[in-house]
Amino acid sequence: MKPATVSLIGLGLFAAALLLAMILGSSVNVSPDATSNPSQASLHEGVEGFPADCASCHGDRPDYALAGARTQYVESGHFLGFDLETPHAYYANGGGCQSCHTHEGFLEFLDTGQREATPYIEWPSQPGCFTCHEPHETGDFSLRTTAAVSLINDRTFDEGASNLCANCHQSRTDAMTAVKATPANQVRSYFGPHYGVQSNLYLGTGAYEFSDKAYSSSQHRFVVEEACIGCHMALPEGRYSLTAALGGHSFNIGIGEAEHSQLNPTSCANCHEGIGQLPGTRLFDSPANDDWDNDGNLEVAQAEFRGLLERLVNENGSGLLQQGEAPLFTNTGEFNTRAPEGLMRTEAEMAALFNYKFMSSDRSLGLHNMVYGVQILQDTIAALDPTFDTSTRPR
Ligand code: HEC
Ligand code: HEC
Ligand code: HEC
Ligand code: HEC
Ligand code: HEC
Ligand code: HEC
Repeated sequence: MKPATVSLIGLGLFAAALLLAMILGSSVNVSPDATSNPSQASLHEGVEGFPADCASCHGDRPDYALAGARTQYVESGHFLGFDLETPHAYYANGGGCQSCHTHEGFLEFLDTGQREATPYIEWPSQPGCFTCHEPHETGDFSLRTTAAVSLINDRTFDEGASNLCANCHQSRTDAMTAVKATPANQVRSYFGPHYGVQSNLYLGTGAYEFSDKAYSSSQHRFVVEEACIGCHMALPEGRYSLTAALGGHSFNIGIGEAEHSQLNPTSCANCHEGIGQLPGTRLFDSPANDDWDNDGNLEVAQAEFRGLLERLVNENGSGLLQQGEAPLFTNTGEFNTRAPEGLMRTEAEMAALFNYKFMSSDRSLGLHNMVYGVQILQDTIAALDPTFDTSTRPR
């Protein structure tokens, strides 16, 4: 459907509901003719009696920044889809997927506690205002849920209002049971935690952990107020930095690529004075405190983290998971769907596959929990390549 058609339907619905509200509201005087023929019911007749209950949100000067929130929201991944380009409500609508990828499925999940209450949603839609708020029920913008969330490995995510996010942004696979030596031709391309692992990484849990190693966590999870919301919804200072696509209901901290990218350091700057963007990159300029990826250069933290990921898989084909006759990844960095009969993937390889997917699909380049992230990646690399120097491993 073209956007114009959608908004016309929206307007129609709105007019109809408004009319209904006016009819129900005793303050409005509507003639019988008008009620029997809605097309003749002139709305301006009712302007004086515009229901006060609706005006706090739909009036000329609403109490809530409804239109402003929408202006940001239409720039968000929730509206536009993954990578701001492919909405998934249409096809990720079944097998439990609907509970995170559709508005209807999420509400069903909250009602029933089950991800597959019905096999699929008949008329699925992208998440919208009513997915997270219930203004027509509560009369305000309180959140639909702020209950603590139990993650797949039974760790509890309890970060106030950001619990809302954790309902969807969590791993779907328990690494400790999924990772084991596996016949190569049974390793599916979707093996791994599923894309949205941010809540797990933030807590510092959910990757495959090596039993002889101890793991710890970045300070972020203890000090950042409001967790996800605190960083992702902080509004850029001054005139939105001339875009509605950062902060607030865009939920974005970053947009664009390389020299065309823009980052929002507003929340960071409360704690890291003077923090900004590394010129020409979509990276924050906060330095790592060691050469974690062992490339001989001390870079910014996110670049060190990326260096670790690239030791496993990279575009030049030199990653540890790109070696041998039937490697897990091709030399251009795609998952290799072909594997010969009889070949086994070792536990270390399966752990590396899981952890590579976990840390790359989080997509903050470690920022959600740099300490845990670097520990996991260094251990993963060392398990495949014992010559890798882990003396810079964070404590
Ligand atoms: C607390 C805020 C709030 C109040 C009060 C409120 N609404 Fe809404 N309403 C919303 C939001 C949010 C939307 C969705 C806007 C959007 O999608 O941009 C909405 C959308 C609508 C729509 C369009 C529905 C759709 O599916 O697109 C109608 C119709 C509507 N409201 C009618 C009313 C009526 C009638 C009242 C008073 C009885 C009312 N609203 C009071 C917040 C409110
Ligand atoms: C109903 C499930 C759900 C909830 C609740 C939810 N998200 Fe999302 N979010 C998604 C899905 C699914 C995507 C991927 C876009 C898509 O496929 O539609 C996404 C995308 C995003 C993106 C953009 C990623 C990109 O590709 O650009 C950000 C940032 C984000 N969410 C942050 C948050 C934050 C912060 C919260 C809490 C305030 C939150 N989300 C709550 C399901 C959810
Ligand atoms: C627990 C919630 C949850 C469930 C269940 C879920 N997803 Fe997702 N999915 C997400 C989130 C959150 C993202 C976005 C993560 C991000 O932006 O980093 C996402 C991203 C995706 C993407 C985007 C990746 C891309 O490359 O475009 C696809 C495709 C996808 N999901 C498909 C599915 C399918 C198919 C299912 C069911 C088999 C499913 N999802 C089940 C939460 C979920
Ligand atoms: C993915 C979840 C999500 C979606 C979708 C969403 N919001 Fe929100 N909204 C939030 C969160 C989280 C907050 C901040 C609440 C807090 O800090 O406690 C918020 C706050 C608000 C506020 C401020 C309330 C206040 O009391 O100041 C308004 C207004 C609002 N949202 C409107 C909207 C509108 C309009 C839409 C649709 C265009 C929308 N929201 C969609 C999560 C969402
Ligand atoms: C300390 C600040 C901080 C906190 C807290 C935080 N994030 Fe992030 N997040 C980031 C940064 C920085 C990025 C990378 C931004 C970029 O390059 O777009 C990011 C990236 C993401 C992305 C990928 C967005 C994209 O466009 O590629 C998603 C989705 C996301 N975070 C969700 C969450 C969720 C859910 C939570 C809570 C569990 C959370 N974040 C907590 C800072 C934070
Ligand atoms: C509420 C305060 C607070 C906010 C907000 C915050 N940080 Fe931090 N950050 C800290 C503290 C405290 C540490 C731990 C410092 C140490 O160990 O020396 C830290 C550590 C870091 C590190 C080092 C790696 C690590 O996790 O230990 C980086 C990089 C970083 N922050 C970047 C950011 C960026 C980028 C943002 C915004 C997207 C941000 N921080 C938001 C307080 C904050």
